[in-house]
Amino acid sequence: MKLLLKNATLVLRNGEKKADLLIDGGKISRISNNIEENCKTVDCTGKHVFAGLIDMHVHLREPGFEGKEDIESGSRAAVAGGFTQVCCMPNTNPVCDNAVVVSYIKYRQSQVNLCKINPVGAITRGQEGKAMAEIGKMKEAGAVAISDDGKTVADTNVMRLAMEYAHGFGLKCLCHCEDINLVDGGVVNEGYNSTLTGLKGSLRAAEDIIIAREIALAESLDIPVHICHVSTYSGVEIIRSAKARGVKVTAETCPHYFILTDDIITSFDTNTKVNPPVREEKDRLAIIEGLKDGTIDCIVTDHAPHALKDKQVEYNLAAFGMSGIETSFPLSYTYLVKTGQLTLSCLADKMSFNPSEILNLGAGEIKEGALADLTIADLSEKYVIDSGKFLSKGKNTPFNGFEVYGKVLYTIVDGNIKYKN
Ligand code: DOR
Ligand code: ZN
Ligand code: ZN
Repeated sequence: MKLLLKNATLVLRNGEKKADLLIDGGKISRISNNIEENCKTVDCTGKHVFAGLIDMHVHLREPGFEGKEDIESGSRAAVAGGFTQVCCMPNTNPVCDNAVVVSYIKYRQSQVNLCKINPVGAITRGQEGKAMAEIGKMKEAGAVAISDDGKTVADTNVMRLAMEYAHGFGLKCLCHCEDINLVDGGVVNEGYNSTLTGLKGSLRAAEDIIIAREIALAESLDIPVHICHVSTYSGVEIIRSAKARGVKVTAETCPHYFILTDDIITSFDTNTKVNPPVREEKDRLAIIEGLKDGTIDCIVTDHAPHALKDKQVEYNLAAFGMSGIETSFPLSYTYLVKTGQLTLSCLADKMSFNPSEILNLGAGEIKEGALADLTIADLSEKYVIDSGKFLSKGKNTPFNGFEVYGKVLYTIVDGNIKYKN
């Protein structure tokens, strides 16, 4: 089947280009001016076309926590957010620590048939931090990386062995960095606002110590490693200096870390509770600097949908996490591109090309011959975020009521329209 995008502004790796784009057989077959073809045509005048967005860090909750989200609702939310591929974390029930669960997720993806879903296998069995999971078998079944996300592998030697095993299978470890003994029950950033509210704080050091540990392992072993959801100014600095030494470290952050500060916790709104916690202005600014200078490679959502009952409790008891997949693109565009911090091409790198490179997904670029995974957006349209309209089961966002630009109009996967606004 053919599909023609007319008069589009294509967001390429090194700039923008006005052209028509023809899709044939699931691939981009031609990019040129004035393509005439008797087929289904989308008028893209005034619209931007991106390589399909890739979110390399989401929680889809299936199997086991379908009250929060399932693969179908999560996929609907993903394509509405402009995502053509997501990578889902293994903290499900049962934990995705074996080939059967990986295969189950792939099977559910083929049933739902919206975005591509790449399972991330656990590092350790049951995410218990002790025995290694079946890394080779999970890779064979389709896992694209391993992670104990939600937890750090506390035993450094287990982490070392996991990095070596994973590397042997061509997989990377995605590291959730949190020294749990130092966190000691903290629920927010430790600082002025934790004192003001009486909520127990967690030091930046709890995150930084593990970022530094994972980098030390990666450097000693000469193995690549990826740091999840960086939230601290000091963590950015550790990663920056490691990269300067040639350590093979990559890193991601999320919109809440470059938009919000812990001033929001004074509302006691449990939708502000996330792990790692949102921190202070100097952290927020350092995250933006890290995105600008390439220290931070990717923008992910850490989409963590929760049921209302998990959040409608007192702050200390509420679940950590934000439902982010339907707001990530407009928030990133509004707060990074419209403010002049990043170019559109650079944003596209952070949300598509770089995640694809890091995980070897073979996507992330608009060029002839590439897979026709594309996201079409209207960047001029302003609208107000309304969590009541989320397709995700998780309505837990601190961004309700925020004014944003950048409406996703179409999400195209393998040449097929999977979402149309
Ligand atoms: O806020 C978070 N929520 N951080 C995590 O690391 C896990 C996630 C979840 O699974 O809810
Ligand atoms: Zn995490
Ligand atoms: Zn996560």
